Amino acid sequence: LAAPALSWAQAAFPSKPLTLVVPFSAGGPTDVVSRLLGAAMGRHLGQSVVVENRVGAGGTLAAASVARAQPDGYTFLIHHNGMGTAPALYRKLPYKPLADFEYIGQVLDVPMTLVGRKDLPARDGKALLAYLKAQGDKTNIAHAGLGAVSHLCSMLLRQALGVDMTTVPYQGTAPAMNALMGGQVDLLCDQTTSTTPFIKAGSVKLYGVTTAQRLKTLPDTPTLAEQGLPGFQVVVWHGLYAPKGTPAAAVQRLTAALQAALKEPAVVARLHELGAVIPAEDKQTPAGLRDWLAEETHRYGPLIQAAGQFAD
Ligand code: MLT
Repeated sequence: LAAPALSWAQAAFPSKPLTLVVPFSAGGPTDVVSRLLGAAMGRHLGQSVVVENRVGAGGTLAAASVARAQPDGYTFLIHHNGMGTAPALYRKLPYKPLADFEYIGQVLDVPMTLVGRKDLPARDGKALLAYLKAQGDKTNIAHAGLGAVSHLCSMLLRQALGVDMTTVPYQGTAPAMNALMGGQVDLLCDQTTSTTPFIKAGSVKLYGVTTAQRLKTLPDTPTLAEQGLPGFQVVVWHGLYAPKGTPAAAVQRLTAALQAALKEPAVVARLHELGAVIPAEDKQTPAGLRDWLAEETHRYGPLIQAAGQFAD
């Protein structure tokens, strides 16, 4: 008689490398933090975590592929606010963010910065916002596609200012930043994990941060709220997801590896350097992520309806 196969719980998990699917391009802000996190989680899982960039349709292509992946714990997804905006943005979204996944935990929060091309005349955020309110329709702002947080930020900025800035989509954050540095676009709202080196090198002009408070990493930079947009706030939050049906024991192992990674001093130091904030431990949990995703999904729906920008 053949020996019965080991049940999933008896088999050691993980016994082979895992794949962390990143929905945006290599070198972009999501990729930068994913590589750091993947390597750290791998150390705690005793297996390597291979980052795979599956780029397209504002991150929905990657999320759809993970929703359909084998639910064995070996494939998981990192995604940001785009998980909450996609149901309102995409009329034919082929998955349900609040039903088709197991939730591993929240990962990190990243502030955004509003940056402009170097030769933009406005000398500071206050002057820029006043100019945009008066003649924002003559200005354009780049973003990384419908579903990208740079798009979300540009949409919220247009709504807050009440002006019709032209939004210019690029394939990712890197080409959008190149276009800004090349002077082809005026503005970009992007994550500190991506803009910090360019700001420090003086390749772009920094006009403000999108958080409620100033950042420890950029203490002299006022918030946009301080400079004429009271209440304006955009923070990029990230979560880890596995396909629905992934065994609970695997999800627990991944959550534990996430929490351990976020305690590694070198990881913490690097994330702080990039302006990112590690969420409280009760958010680095399945319930912490699921509840937050539900809240964000309901918050964004009406805002996107009002903005009237959709994709099929
Ligand atoms: C990226 O990694 O390219 C970004 O997260 C894109 C974005 O959402 O702006």
